[in-house]
Amino acid sequence: MNTPFSLKVYDSLNGNLPPLTPIQEEILRLKKERNAILLVHNYQSAEIQRVADYVGDSLGLAYQAEAEKDADVIVFCGVHFMAETAKIVNPSKTVLLPVVEAGCSLADSCDAAELAAVKAQNPNLYVVAYINCSAAVKALADVICTSGNAKKIVENVPADREILFVPDQNLGSWVAAQTGRKMRLWPGSCYAHVLFSVKEIQRAREQFPGAPVLVHPECVESVRATADIVCSTEKMVTFCKESAADTFIIVTETNMIARLRQEIPNKKFVAGPTATCACNECMFMKMNTPETLRDCLKNMSPEIKLPEDLRLAAYTPLKRMLDWSK
Ligand code: 13P
Ligand code: SF4
Repeated sequence: MNTPFSLKVYDSLNGNLPPLTPIQEEILRLKKERNAILLVHNYQSAEIQRVADYVGDSLGLAYQAEAEKDADVIVFCGVHFMAETAKIVNPSKTVLLPVVEAGCSLADSCDAAELAAVKAQNPNLYVVAYINCSAAVKALADVICTSGNAKKIVENVPADREILFVPDQNLGSWVAAQTGRKMRLWPGSCYAHVLFSVKEIQRAREQFPGAPVLVHPECVESVRATADIVCSTEKMVTFCKESAADTFIIVTETNMIARLRQEIPNKKFVAGPTATCACNECMFMKMNTPETLRDCLKNMSPEIKLPEDLRLAAYTPLKRMLDWSK
């Protein structure tokens, strides 16, 4: 019989940050020189989070990008659709993404031409698109949502319209259960979030009795059923801050724990396990490193560019989301 792997347990940093490395110092200097602001997703490494101007979930990052006035440049450490969203909501800024190949399996699972064909055959469909999709898919949507506001957005959709939820079938089925609203679901999923194991999460519960289990809604239904709370990455931060518990099992991309450790003193975090591994990092998020971030600020490249007609078409449903979720 195989010996099970040991779970990964992280103590809080209690404000004890290591000194900045030379490359982090260089990034901070280059940000000033370029008049750049650095927006960072919760799944980026601790080294990148450390030099950020803002760290958050997709919703918080979209609001930050839209509201940015003073900087000339937005450097985005996340994946391609997130940087593209920043360009859609704030087109006058130069938007940089350290590695242009940093994509998303979920975004890739919905092809715009296929979606256009489904819409053409079903004119009454109201398309709710999870923000994890391309600008071309956003342009075909009626409204965008994130994991942080999906319930609220779906509740706002006119009752006489049939909803097609794209591209995440897992988030879609969770929102359908939350709202009682029947929806057609696009058959897409996140390659990383579907890997978590119910059996291993139960083992973590036995090892840490009383530790709440926090699960991202991109996980499959059987994994969501193990949760004390199903929520977006930002809500995970508030939940762990406000809870009386001292240990938490975090069932989402493992770098989420970098954010939690930094902000929450005296608490412990256990990485959500898959069937074969104690952690679960997104291979696309991991493409950004302090080195690629430094080089991108140095070279002012790769830059996100979008044809203006596509940007405008994608902006309408995004703006609707930002307005509805205020
Ligand atoms: P959040 O908006 O909850 O941060 O999720 C983004 C994401 O890509 C999850 O995989
Ligand atoms: Fe996409 Fe999944 Fe990575 Fe999030 S974790 S960026 S949904 S591949």
